[in-house]
Amino acid sequence: MRIDILTLFPGMFSGPFDESIIKRAIDAGLVSINLHNIRDWADGKHQVADDYVYGGGPGMVMKPEPIFAATEAVLEMAPERGPIVLMTPAGRKFDHELTVELAAEERLIILSGRYEGFDARVHEHLATHEVSIGDYVLSGGELPAMVLVDAVVRQLPGALGSPDSVEDESFSHGLLEAPHYTRPPEFRGWEVPAVLLSGHHAEVDKWRRRQNLLLTAQRRPDLLERFSLSKEEKEWLSEKLDEAF
Ligand code: ADE
Repeated sequence: MRIDILTLFPGMFSGPFDESIIKRAIDAGLVSINLHNIRDWADGKHQVADDYVYGGGPGMVMKPEPIFAATEAVLEMAPERGPIVLMTPAGRKFDHELTVELAAEERLIILSGRYEGFDARVHEHLATHEVSIGDYVLSGGELPAMVLVDAVVRQLPGALGSPDSVEDESFSHGLLEAPHYTRPPEFRGWEVPAVLLSGHHAEVDKWRRRQNLLLTAQRRPDLLERFSLSKEEKEWLSEKLDEAF
């Protein structure tokens, strides 16, 4: 996959992309991440990329010409095509479904804006997707772009150590993930559930599935509504939930 990110602050991306899973995925050739400074396509001696808002009001808006020119130039840099994703709090809420959708693309172009956002013509005539990472406003689209890229890259086949990891994660099977433990078996008097030490794989699987169900029922009952449970699981869950209240 090829990812191109257009931003006024390419320096913000070093760090998150230079470590751990993303770095490994880049080194393994699973993804290339290309940062482009929008200002390089802004005209004039000062290469100004923003301007006042028509009709008045606070803040500055990013001018359309540099973004269109940058995107068009970046498109020419490689033959692959794919969505042009604009990060904005007014976009579609980013979730697991959209992550998987985007991970199937050959290429992503991501537009990260600052100030009050982009001129509306960028939204209407350039972006194919508008994506929000949550109902809060950040200072720009850079952190949201990093969130999106991290979530997408870990879905690429081979990006995680074990092929099962991505399957086992919260949300991939529609439930929150069961708690994990590691050594020691007892820490400050708190013990690891005995079943996990039993070496009994079927029992461990059953315990995990039930913990997934319980955690989801307690914290995200909205997710459970889309899920079909066996009669036995339903009974176990309603007993457990009764105990908890
Ligand atoms: N830009 C500023 N806030 C944002 C958010 N919550 N999601 C996506 N882009 C943003």
